[in-house]
Amino acid sequence: MTAEFQNSRTKENLMKAFAGESQARNRYTFAAEQAKESNLYVLSEIFEFTAEQERAHAKVFYDHLAGLAGHNITVDGTYPVDAADNLLDLLHMAHHNEMEEFEDVYPAFAKVAEEEGFLPVAASFRMIAQVEQNHAMRFQHIAKLVEQGQLFAAAGEDVWMCLNCGHLHKGKQVPEQCPVCQHNRGYFVPVDMAPWTC
Ligand SMILES: [Fe+2]
Ligand SMILES: [Fe+2]
Repeated sequence: MTAEFQNSRTKENLMKAFAGESQARNRYTFAAEQAKESNLYVLSEIFEFTAEQERAHAKVFYDHLAGLAGHNITVDGTYPVDAADNLLDLLHMAHHNEMEEFEDVYPAFAKVAEEEGFLPVAASFRMIAQVEQNHAMRFQHIAKLVEQGQLFAAAGEDVWMCLNCGHLHKGKQVPEQCPVCQHNRGYFVPVDMAPWTC
């Protein structure tokens, strides 16, 4: 590892990003548990899915630090306390944090990495920033569905899938219980939001 990297701001930014991603992963895992306890399986899956992607981001940043194995890196950071009883609040907080990463934090880190000559690191910051924007849009979309009471109801006839057993239900809203597997309505999603449908 070059002396330049050891003395760089990029080294610190990578550690801050690793900390931020690791925390986001945990926050989303907590939110997923909360959603599951509220019988909102779909929300739980969305938080879990995103948590796994934050883990992958943490790994990308951590791998950039591999050359400093055995060293400690001291950083100052500001991290959110996103605790709420209400899942809608958690969705809004998640959206806010993702937008901050996309708009402010990672572009600033990328700029420093470019100035310091660490171009592969800058590329990681810029590409992951794009993913964070997708996360933000996903959380915003789901928050809107919850706000408008459309998580389990559509304006017109829709096809919904029970994510437990795959049963397809046609109608304006999902049944209280899946008629096939008896799982609660929290398992239903509009079929176009179901994974692996083609
Ligand atoms: Fe991330
Ligand atoms: Fe994210």
